[in-house]
Amino acid sequence: MTDHAILFTPVSAGALSLRNRIVMAPLTRSRSSEQGVPPDFAADYYAQRAGAGLIVSEATNISAQARGYAMTPGIWSETQVGAWRRVTDAVHGKGGLMVLQLWHTGRISHPDLHDGALPVAPSAIRPVGQAFTLGGLKDHVTPRALETDEVAAIVEDYRHAARCARDAGFDGVEVHSANNYLLEQFIRDSTNARTDRYGGSVENRLRFPLDVVRAVTDVWGGGDRVGIRISPATTMPGETPLDSDTMGTYTAYLDALAPFGLAYVHAIEGITQQTRDAPAGVDFVALRRHVTGAYIGNNTYTADLAADALNEGKVDAVSFGRPFIANPDLVERLRTGAPLADAPKQYWYGGGANGYSDWPTVSG
Ligand SMILES: Cc1cc2nc3c(=O)[nH]c(=O)nc-3n(C[C@H](O)[C@H](O)[C@H](O)COP(=O)(O)O)c2cc1C
Repeated sequence: MTDHAILFTPVSAGALSLRNRIVMAPLTRSRSSEQGVPPDFAADYYAQRAGAGLIVSEATNISAQARGYAMTPGIWSETQVGAWRRVTDAVHGKGGLMVLQLWHTGRISHPDLHDGALPVAPSAIRPVGQAFTLGGLKDHVTPRALETDEVAAIVEDYRHAARCARDAGFDGVEVHSANNYLLEQFIRDSTNARTDRYGGSVENRLRFPLDVVRAVTDVWGGGDRVGIRISPATTMPGETPLDSDTMGTYTAYLDALAPFGLAYVHAIEGITQQTRDAPAGVDFVALRRHVTGAYIGNNTYTADLAADALNEGKVDAVSFGRPFIANPDLVERLRTGAPLADAPKQYWYGGGANGYSDWPTVSG
């Protein structure tokens, strides 16, 4: 029988001291106002989940241009900072630890979210699929390729957002470099066909993400409260093809991140929400050897898989996404072996407190 005890032992990630190794993965729930302000009941929702060793907030737009999904929160205005402050106060009141995930969706967006303007991306390559707009699902469009000098301006947006996150009382930030949003669109040669200093060689394709990490760690006084999320093997969303040399590119990325002394790398292993199996040639154990700081594994973990990975030393912590939706007391349920509730998809995105901050705990 798998020994689960290790799940409930403390672990450090940089300056973050996690009281257990169960991390709440970032979960977009699309309940913010059109101005990107989280609702009051977001404080209840996150505080209910403060038993996690670390909460990673839902992906949060660094600027208006960053938006790609209706009703997602932002972290660039004073009103947004004030609303997030209520959330961090509530989580801290329960002894929890919370970082904010910094997001720019790039091409995974729609003109309806930008007053009719095209979403921006490294290159004008259209994603497959549909965007979540206020008017419902709409086909993705071909984005506008960023001008060279616009890229540096986005780095400044990250710097501003990182400052706002600090002002809002977060314990740190997670740079969202996963799931084929803007940072990963620059990294992969399948979405970056640029010929300037941000495209072509691996070094050039990594330039923008590394500039972002530099700006964010500058704001936070170093890397020990900054994590990064990566997903080298995922094709979601947009049916985005993998890089032509996943191991080479992401090994170079991790090596280039090492000098920043990041608190952790949060890796989505396999295809997000679908399978832990990585395509041939993509090896997360090998990638992990290039990680400095803690390594948080994610994707379709169960308590048994998590405990095995921890006991084998493959991960330092494991994050759970979907299980946290309907189980605010997930840590307690894993500790006691209580059954897990299932959250029907209708509650995932949009709506109010129902299906969000009203899931019961085992103890009622
Ligand atoms: C409703 C929902 C919203 C999500 N939102 C985010 C997000 O905001 N940022 C992110 O990096 N991943 C997001 N993900 C991916 C999850 O963090 C996680 O990687 C994925 O669900 C696999 O983990 P799990 O099997 O434990 O759910 C989301 C997943 C779901 C189901």
